Amino acid sequence: QSAERTLTKGKKISPDLFGLFFEDINYSADGGLYAELVQNRSFEYSPTDRRDWNPFSFWEYITPDFSYGSITVETNSPIHPNNPHYIVLTAEHVGDAGVGVKNSGFDGIVVKAGESYSISMFVRQLSADPISLAISLQTPKGKVLAESKFSTSSKDWKKYSATLKPIESTDSASLVVLATTRGKLALDVVSLFPEKTFKNRPNGLRADLAQLLADMKPRFIRFPGGCLVHGDGLGNMYRWKNTIGPIEQRIEQKNIWGYHQSLGLGYFEYFQFCEDIGAKPLPVLPAAVSCQNSGGTWRIGGTGQKALPKEEMQDYIQEVLDLIEWANGPATSTWGAKRAAAGHPAPFNLQYIGIGNEDKITSEFEERFKIIYTAVKAKHPEITVIGTSGPFPDGEDFEKGWRFANALNVPVVDEHYYKEPSWLMSNLDRYDKYDRTHAEIYLGEYASWGNKLKNAIAEAAYMTGLERNGDIVRMASYAPLLAKRNHTQWKTDMIFFDNNLVCLTPNYHVQKIFSLNQGDVYFDKIVNLDSNDTTAAASCVQDNETGDIILKLVNAGKESQAMKVNLKGFKRIVSKAHLTLLAGDPEAENTLEKPEVIVPTTSNFQASKSFSYHAPAMSLTVIRMKTK
Ligand code: AHR
Repeated sequence: QSAERTLTKGKKISPDLFGLFFEDINYSADGGLYAELVQNRSFEYSPTDRRDWNPFSFWEYITPDFSYGSITVETNSPIHPNNPHYIVLTAEHVGDAGVGVKNSGFDGIVVKAGESYSISMFVRQLSADPISLAISLQTPKGKVLAESKFSTSSKDWKKYSATLKPIESTDSASLVVLATTRGKLALDVVSLFPEKTFKNRPNGLRADLAQLLADMKPRFIRFPGGCLVHGDGLGNMYRWKNTIGPIEQRIEQKNIWGYHQSLGLGYFEYFQFCEDIGAKPLPVLPAAVSCQNSGGTWRIGGTGQKALPKEEMQDYIQEVLDLIEWANGPATSTWGAKRAAAGHPAPFNLQYIGIGNEDKITSEFEERFKIIYTAVKAKHPEITVIGTSGPFPDGEDFEKGWRFANALNVPVVDEHYYKEPSWLMSNLDRYDKYDRTHAEIYLGEYASWGNKLKNAIAEAAYMTGLERNGDIVRMASYAPLLAKRNHTQWKTDMIFFDNNLVCLTPNYHVQKIFSLNQGDVYFDKIVNLDSNDTTAAASCVQDNETGDIILKLVNAGKESQAMKVNLKGFKRIVSKAHLTLLAGDPEAENTLEKPEVIVPTTSNFQASKSFSYHAPAMSLTVIRMKTK
């Protein structure tokens, strides 16, 4: 029900304007949002990931109490061909403590006293007699915090599961697996999850981080990248089919950002998370070409090939079409059945698909994009395909990317840019000038370089321009989203975290404030700004569901300034309104140790049809007013 109003100037804007972009960069997935606590659980790390890594990285062979035996990495008889490596442990003399292996997770395993942790592992008994195993959580000094014991009982791979409840909390636990009787066994996919994941999903997400994203109520989530999508060679191009099904059957691979992807957080988990938080899924698939920067050769693991060979394109197109069937097809369809088998018989209602990410606009790209796009459009006209404008908007490729997309009538084009705050402030009108007859825009990645308040306020000002142009800017998402302490590849990010702590940047607060205050209709000329003033910006939207009028007032200047608001065109404005303010020292920023230097405050506000608001220096103010 839209509110009564007499204004005729309202312009319908995108219902999907502000969302999130998740990429596995900065340890955002493994060691981050994905709640798995064991690092290299499947012994699939390799020198391709990093020169000094191998299948036993992050594991330690331990022989407490003068015990001895041996450990080898083998590939003869894996659980599944997709997951080739496993370890073989031979316990010769077990002493009082046993012989085994230890994993200290991603910079230590955080456990909380009294909480439950689910441990599971695949074991194959290789000696004649059963072997006794003790699985425990231990402190660095070897104190056992929780333990479970079992005996092997199968000469084939068998999964063992148990629950561990530590008696003490620590940030630096290890998971220890010990053979306490003599014998030989194979071990793989050794996994430890907190029982409390987000929405208690199995193979789920770290609850605190996922909740912070849910709290933003994003309209969509784009995943899994970023450059991660095309990889730096065909060898690690992201292929969605490798990321679904039981975790022990997924194909792990090198992460383009210099580490490893277990792909435990795969397409099913992404789609499930989107559904759990009411966001539309926006999967981005490679346009069958690899990284614009590399041609596939500049990093280890690159295959030297830039693009999928033409003879593989038919299969690749089918792979893209199969994703749509997997997401939206009935549970009786071939791919819908796989979704159902994973626990989701109902369709996921996929509406958008991205093809390509910042690709260099070469003939290889053009040929491949065109046939993928044409095939999707022909078979699934209900799906909106998002193309790419190519690299950052400074070069020739960008113009070329737009010309190419427009010639094909691609409905939405993805633009990316990372800029200084001054660039954002002097380009607030960027989309005012865009041709309305051409493709709409998905601003898939943007940020000003920095996490100080001044960066966030420049982004807020820029976002008022996105709202004003919400008739052609279909979607926008800040990037990157998550960054782990000591594992950060991109210097500007929205949320910093470690195993315990979280730091919400001023940029996060701006994104959240805009996301929670999206509208369906935009009104012009509500706030009277001095057109010579390059430090002020404002927008006014109305949310159809509540009828609320929402003003966003940005002052990126050094002094407070008065902004005149005229709401006379609306029939009714309820005087008791709600105000959110983010303001402070332009140079201030939050850190993991001091996360609350810059936080929004809220208060009541006395609204009327005409008022003057004094916007503090360096601030974003949102005034939300009821109309009924
Ligand atoms: O967001 C970080 C990177 O920036 C993305 O992977 C890529 O698309 C862009 O270059």
